[in-house]
Amino acid sequence: MGLDLEYIDGQTPIDEEEKEGLRIETISTKVELDEFEQLNIEEALQWVLSKKFKAIQVFSEKFICDLHKRMYGNIWTWAGEFRKTDKNIGIDKHQIPVQLKMLCDDSMFWIENNTYSMEEMAIRFKHRLVSIHCFPNGNGRHSRLMADIIIEKLFGKEPFSWGAGNLTQSGETRTAYLKAVKMADLGKYQPLLEFARS
Ligand SMILES: Nc1ncnc2c1ncn2[C@@H]1O[C@H](COP(=O)(O)OP(=O)(O)OP(=O)(O)O)[C@@H](O)[C@H]1O
Ligand SMILES: [Mg+2]
Repeated sequence: MGLDLEYIDGQTPIDEEEKEGLRIETISTKVELDEFEQLNIEEALQWVLSKKFKAIQVFSEKFICDLHKRMYGNIWTWAGEFRKTDKNIGIDKHQIPVQLKMLCDDSMFWIENNTYSMEEMAIRFKHRLVSIHCFPNGNGRHSRLMADIIIEKLFGKEPFSWGAGNLTQSGETRTAYLKAVKMADLGKYQPLLEFARS
């Protein structure tokens, strides 16, 4: 038996080698995988809630990788490690460390210079992070949690609601989300900003 996964629009398929990194042998369907990942993510959320963070800490490769590991480390051996394969979404795998460094440096600059509103800063970061696509999987949920950490923990504002619906399953909410993500690909951040606050 193996892991038989079906993907919905806008998700990155997990390749065979990455599937071998599954820590829980009894998981065999996407629904089961989603459930186990959700439990792990809730542990990560508890950790986030209990901590205070500084910008210089959050905008670092270490923090970004650590958070991914906290979200998925019970499920996947490669959690918190950059992907070693190229994907339908994301940049060339070799470019990940340098592009992530540039994003972190830019983010520190934006904060120090108040370049954007707090909301726009968090959303721009989220979109560039998921466009780099650091990890084999889980990048969408990870990028949304990073945006929540920025808006809530660094700026002291309400966390985003992300359409207030189910984003991990197909449906209206996910369609609206992906539409907004594709506008952000074109440099238009307003729809994703509005979606995150809806
Ligand atoms: N055209 C695009 N440009 C940038 N990012 C995209 C695009 N299409 C999809 N994405 C992002 O990629 C994510 C999917 O990547 P991945 O499967 O690694 O994340 P996930 O957390 O497993 O899934 P998801 O959060 O989507 O349920 C989506 O959440 C979306 O944010
Ligand atoms: Mg996925």
